[in-house]
Amino acid sequence: MELTITVNNREYTLEVDPKESLLFILRERLGLTGTKNGCSQGHCGACTIVLNGKAVKACLKKAKKINRANILTIEGISPEFPNKELHPIQEAFIQATAVQCGFCTSGLIMELFALLRENPSITEQGIKEALEGHLCRCTGYQPIFDASLLAQKMMRSKNSG
Ligand code: FES
Ligand code: FES
Repeated sequence: MELTITVNNREYTLEVDPKESLLFILRERLGLTGTKNGCSQGHCGACTIVLNGKAVKACLKKAKKINRANILTIEGISPEFPNKELHPIQEAFIQATAVQCGFCTSGLIMELFALLRENPSITEQGIKEALEGHLCRCTGYQPIFDASLLAQKMMRSKNSG
């Protein structure tokens, strides 16, 4: 099938198998390897991207269901800000030392990106629940949670300033 998608504000038209996953398309066809493949089965959250404004697991999305979709990956979030500095969520993860091996990090950041955009004032409990679908083999869950709260604070001050 012919698939047209917009990824990080750039439109692509590709010839793909309808059963191919969005994860495969991003990594193997477009070379966007910031989106990680942990399990290919929807269990780990490593492949989370933002599709039409919602955080979704790219390994579970088939090509036939995503024609004309608008997709944002970890490679596309920082240029929203001037001078290509890091996105505040990325900054927060560094400051809170929430990146260990980093394999789960881009999925977590994309989850938070969609969450905080939709609900900037979400409660701590709401953040905790949103992160439940993400596994970290390095088990640094407390720094990840701290980073998420810091990201929320940093985004608020950025938006109010
Ligand atoms: S690779 Fe998609 S949820 Fe694990
Ligand atoms: S930082 Fe290593 S898997 Fe999460």
